[in-house]
Amino acid sequence: MKPSPQFFLAGFLSLILQTGLCYGIKWIALSKTPSALALNQTQHCKQLEGLVVSQVQLCRSNLELMQTIIQAAREVIKTCRKTFSDMRWNCSSIELAPNYLLDLERGTRESAFVYALSAAAISHTIARACTTGDLPGCSCGPIPGETPGPGYRWGGCADNLNYGLIMGSKFSDAPMKMKKSGSQANKLMHLHNSEVGRQVLKASLEMKCKCHGVSGSCSIKTCWKGLQELRDIALDLKNKYLSATKVVHRPMGTRKYLVPKDIDIRPVKETELIYLQSSPDFCMKNEKVGSHGTQDRQCNKTSNGSDSCDLMCCGRGYNPYMDKVVERCHCKYHWCCYVTCKKCERTVERYVCK
Ligand SMILES: *[C@@H]1O[C@H](CO)[C@@H](O)[C@H](O)[C@H]1NC(C)=O
Ligand SMILES: *[C@@H]1O[C@H](CO)[C@@H](O)[C@H](O)[C@H]1NC(C)=O
Ligand SMILES: *[C@@H]1O[C@H](CO)[C@@H](O)[C@H](O)[C@H]1NC(C)=O
Ligand SMILES: *[C@@H]1O[C@H](CO)[C@@H](O)[C@H](O)[C@H]1NC(C)=O
Repeated sequence: MKPSPQFFLAGFLSLILQTGLCYGIKWIALSKTPSALALNQTQHCKQLEGLVVSQVQLCRSNLELMQTIIQAAREVIKTCRKTFSDMRWNCSSIELAPNYLLDLERGTRESAFVYALSAAAISHTIARACTTGDLPGCSCGPIPGETPGPGYRWGGCADNLNYGLIMGSKFSDAPMKMKKSGSQANKLMHLHNSEVGRQVLKASLEMKCKCHGVSGSCSIKTCWKGLQELRDIALDLKNKYLSATKVVHRPMGTRKYLVPKDIDIRPVKETELIYLQSSPDFCMKNEKVGSHGTQDRQCNKTSNGSDSCDLMCCGRGYNPYMDKVVERCHCKYHWCCYVTCKKCERTVERYVCK
């Protein structure tokens, strides 16, 4: 059988796309850095995977930040996988960093989410590291100017959001600031989505308080500004992913801008995730578009969300199988003060997509 011209074209296209025209989220490969790498000398920076030249320079001049950034890369992977575990596209391909498949190499909705999450995660992790005293270059965030209300006082150590945003965006936006890296449209889109991630991070700064006073009376509360957990920020971003806007790169006056593709003429909102390329439905395996398909994925017969067998299996049906779960049971309370339990085995029916 002779391969069709489309086959060659698709192969060629995926070749250009896969040779990494956009380096934006390749730094997530830092998650694979061996913990034995001490990272206390500037020449170690060259050994790190997935960095562009300007990121290697940032590494050399901010060595003390690198362990935190490596941790951020691990957080991105963990959080993305968890947030999308109930979806057809379950973020498993992020583990392939820095050599992604087309689901993340093209300007898709999925890549929009990963860019936003990565930008949020790096700033989140740095801001938190300031609080725990892990970084020499920063400490607690500023004490807010406003008074916290009666019964409350400022204290504790605020997350240093400002420092996190400055250092985080310097590092994670660096690939998009390079002259020769992918199309202008892609770079604009990635920068936009990264900024959306940081906006959600900023909005997550909230007042956190601890109680003081005689035996838990909570007559005085000490409060500080703390960031929400990354998994909550990721849930916000997942909602933005679900309502993301398709855009086109269109000339307006002397410059080109990303504008929504549908007829409603309006600029792109600062709060919405945007994408240039439509994604497949991820039902069937198709490597040309980076789809793993959902065959053999577990589904939930009683759910009516995205993990329901109907949606997950795309109407193909599902096969039941028996699974054993071990649980704590027959727990007894002993005076004083501990609990002992037995282990019980239970069989549950589970389902996988046909
Ligand atoms: C870097 O760390 C390694 C291992 O912890 C240590 O043996 C080495 O002396 C350190 N080098 C410098 C320049 O601090
Ligand atoms: C995610 O999807 C991939 C591809 O379909 C599958 O191999 C993997 O088991 C899934 N992971 C989870 C946690 O469901
Ligand atoms: C399935 O979905 C239902 C309803 O959303 C939920 O209560 C249950 O825990 C889920 N089961 C599993 C195995 O995830
Ligand atoms: C399932 O869908 C029905 C109606 O569409 C809704 O009322 C119900 O709350 C949903 N249940 C769950 C567990 O999401």
